[in-house]
Amino acid sequence: MDPVQLTGPRLTIREFHHVPRDIDALHAIFGDPETARYLPFEPRDREDCADQVALYLEEAERDPRTVYRLAVTITAEGEDAVPIGNAVLGIEGAESQRAAFIGYALRRDTWGFGYATEIARLLCGFGFGTLGLHRLAARLDPENLASARVLRKVGFQLEGRIRHDLFLRGRWYDALQYSLLEDEWLDRPGG
Ligand SMILES: CC(C)(COP(=O)(O)OP(=O)(O)OC[C@H]1O[C@@H](n2cnc3c(N)ncnc32)[C@H](O)[C@@H]1OP(=O)(O)O)[C@@H](O)C(=O)NCCC(=O)NCCS
Repeated sequence: MDPVQLTGPRLTIREFHHVPRDIDALHAIFGDPETARYLPFEPRDREDCADQVALYLEEAERDPRTVYRLAVTITAEGEDAVPIGNAVLGIEGAESQRAAFIGYALRRDTWGFGYATEIARLLCGFGFGTLGLHRLAARLDPENLASARVLRKVGFQLEGRIRHDLFLRGRWYDALQYSLLEDEWLDRPGG
């Protein structure tokens, strides 16, 4: 595996490590009911988070690699920084489609600083640049207004509503699907 490291103005996106620091950090994100409210799973306990990190590392070793589940840190906090978020890019469909989905989640005390926008831009740069993809998509709960705003800021366009996309907590949830194409990313203002 070639470890991924993406660096933006304030954030670094790197591989997870199966160490207490990263497992606790993921638990601080996925274990928080308010953060998990718009995620497609119930809040996760620490053991689940440890299993998740193990899975991410296993996925990272697959050849070809189709899923990148990565940790987000604040660059100024140095190499041993505790992750404040996670970022995901997953290849979808046949290789010739050059398509993937992206997602992200941040620890609650780090919301509102523009970090998700930076993460989304870094994932776009990685997807369209390094991986040579043609299309990136993201799905979100229609009530997740902050996440929709992030995608629109980065240039994603709304494609439509997917009805009953997810069954969780005893009910169906619709999703909104957004996408961004390679040319739109390359032609973005200031790009
Ligand atoms: C959604 C999430 C990633 C946003 O992270 P963030 O770092 O706070 O996002 P940013 O600061 O980059 O941008 C958020 C934007 O949404 C806006 N916003 C925040 N709450 C909002 C709300 N309730 N309604 C409308 N807009 C809202 C902010 O003002 C900001 O827009 P602006 O820059 O034009 O002012 C974060 O809240 C999170 O991790 N939530 C839980 C997990 C999740 O929902 N992940 C996404 C799954 S699709």
